[in-house]
Amino acid sequence: MKIGNLTINGNVFLAPMAGVTDKAFRDICREFGAVFTYSEMVSAKGVFYGNENSEILLGAADEFLAVQIFGREVKSLVYAAQKAEAAGAALVDINMGCPAPKIVRNGEGAALLREPDLIGEIVENVARAVSVPVSVKIRKGFTQNTAVQTAKIAESAGAAAIAVHGRTRDMFYAGESDWDVIKEVKQNVSIPVIGNGDVLSMSHALERIEESGCDAVMIGRAALGNPFLFRGLVKADLSADIIIDTAVRHAKLLVLNKGERTGIREMRKHAAWYIKGLPNAARLKVLVNTAQTLEEITELLYRLKEG
Ligand SMILES: Cc1cc2nc3c(=O)[nH]c(=O)nc-3n(C[C@H](O)[C@H](O)[C@H](O)COP(=O)(O)O)c2cc1C
Repeated sequence: MKIGNLTINGNVFLAPMAGVTDKAFRDICREFGAVFTYSEMVSAKGVFYGNENSEILLGAADEFLAVQIFGREVKSLVYAAQKAEAAGAALVDINMGCPAPKIVRNGEGAALLREPDLIGEIVENVARAVSVPVSVKIRKGFTQNTAVQTAKIAESAGAAAIAVHGRTRDMFYAGESDWDVIKEVKQNVSIPVIGNGDVLSMSHALERIEESGCDAVMIGRAALGNPFLFRGLVKADLSADIIIDTAVRHAKLLVLNKGERTGIREMRKHAAWYIKGLPNAARLKVLVNTAQTLEEITELLYRLKEG
């Protein structure tokens, strides 16, 4: 498929997830066939005023990576988009869906859905400032369904694609993603539409694409501890060996990128997701959560290979 001038060889993507989709996890997902991945959200203000997000941008040089920025000030969003482009991102995505109170309170993330004029102004300015395609990721609405209206505004302001999570902000992550709304957006814009919400597997993704007519799907939570899904694999059918070897490789990458202390602390949650469902996982999870070193976490994970 094509997003602006960017050609992507497939239509099932890894969704942006703060605290999860860092370079290590993206690389693992790419290895299992994810054709396009999104960074964690990066504060545009943070990029504008300092370096607090440099670690995220540092991993940006990737021809199959969208860097997602969030904010509400045109000048900082433009600046952050230019930085992301300079760092090598293939696409800049603007977050208009984060429901977290501390983000919404600042008028950022999903709060933008209540300000259609500002959405137009942001997209227009950011799209003009970079040569890579610019997309937006929205929700169904804040309280009400405003998806089609928002999508049309983004499209006329120059967005090259639009990702739609079929929940309102008020739903946070509860209830179900409304795929009828995603279908409706697709019928009302001519730029590519990326559907999102509750997709569990590769075959499920392809079904959703078929039913809704959308151009691609992005998968978030189902990929936690389960990069295998991008290869069309079902985790329950995999041997403990493959799962554990992947988890250990993930741990090594995290340590390489972030150092042992931070890397292992961050690996604990990933390890818990990887081992979920394996025999004896519950007991081991407690130990994994106290692991301090790569050696320690590797040793603990290897115990699960033996069952
Ligand atoms: C831990 C976590 C972090 C997330 N962080 C982001 C983010 O940084 N930017 C964003 O646009 N969406 C974020 N999301 C939302 C996902 O991208 C996605 O829209 C949502 O989880 C629904 O898709 P799913 O059912 O496939 O998980 C996050 C979701 C989770 C679970």
